Amino acid sequence: MKNNFIKTLAQSLILISFLGCSSSKKNNIESISMKNEKYIVKENLKPSNLSDISDNQINDHWTLYVGYVNQVNKLNEELSELAAKGQLNSLTYSDRRRQYGFEYNGMVLHEYYFGNLKNNVSKNKMAELYKAIQKNWGSFDNWAQDFINTGTTRGIGWAILYADPTTKDLINCFIAEHQIGNITGFMPILVMDVWEHAYMVDHKAGGRVDYINAFLKNVDWSVVEKRYDDLINSKITKRF
Ligand SMILES: [Fe+2]
Repeated sequence: MKNNFIKTLAQSLILISFLGCSSSKKNNIESISMKNEKYIVKENLKPSNLSDISDNQINDHWTLYVGYVNQVNKLNEELSELAAKGQLNSLTYSDRRRQYGFEYNGMVLHEYYFGNLKNNVSKNKMAELYKAIQKNWGSFDNWAQDFINTGTTRGIGWAILYADPTTKDLINCFIAEHQIGNITGFMPILVMDVWEHAYMVDHKAGGRVDYINAFLKNVDWSVVEKRYDDLINSKITKRF
């Protein structure tokens, strides 16, 4: 009996020791270095020949998107380097960690935005999205007015028509900057940038409403409707 107790105790100590090693290995600096692939600029998403949004405006805006791609890559590199140097408790490391939401959303939202812009694409009134909009808002025009109202919220940010993958419900949301107000797990169906840089070239600082009306003339409904079709069919929509 006594021998069995000692044997069990010894096995427990070995197990605890093993778990301890495993945990310490988990905290090993090498194991937490970032090794993500670098993002590249998605040239195929760049729109042109839009209605009431000039190519000059798009070129200017595109440069900012390129900046976000570069910043995301730089952010991951810096985090990796700081981890490799053992500077996990530094202010710089904390600061870079806090930048994730801003830089990543800055890149990703621009890809959804440019990806849903194209001139002269009509909406399909038979599409599931059109039916869902009618069901939620009573009419397409009611939704459009609500989306315009969302886009004129004071401050820099985005108006996004989101879909809830669980309920399939639609909601218009305002996102401040790039990262404040995003709803976790919801799918962006239609994304509109309302930072001033999105319309300054064409419409000046006070021209947000004119820009929004121009934006709505250039929605690539085929892309937007597919995003919603994919959602209701539980398919992942790739943004590029
Ligand atoms: Fe932008």
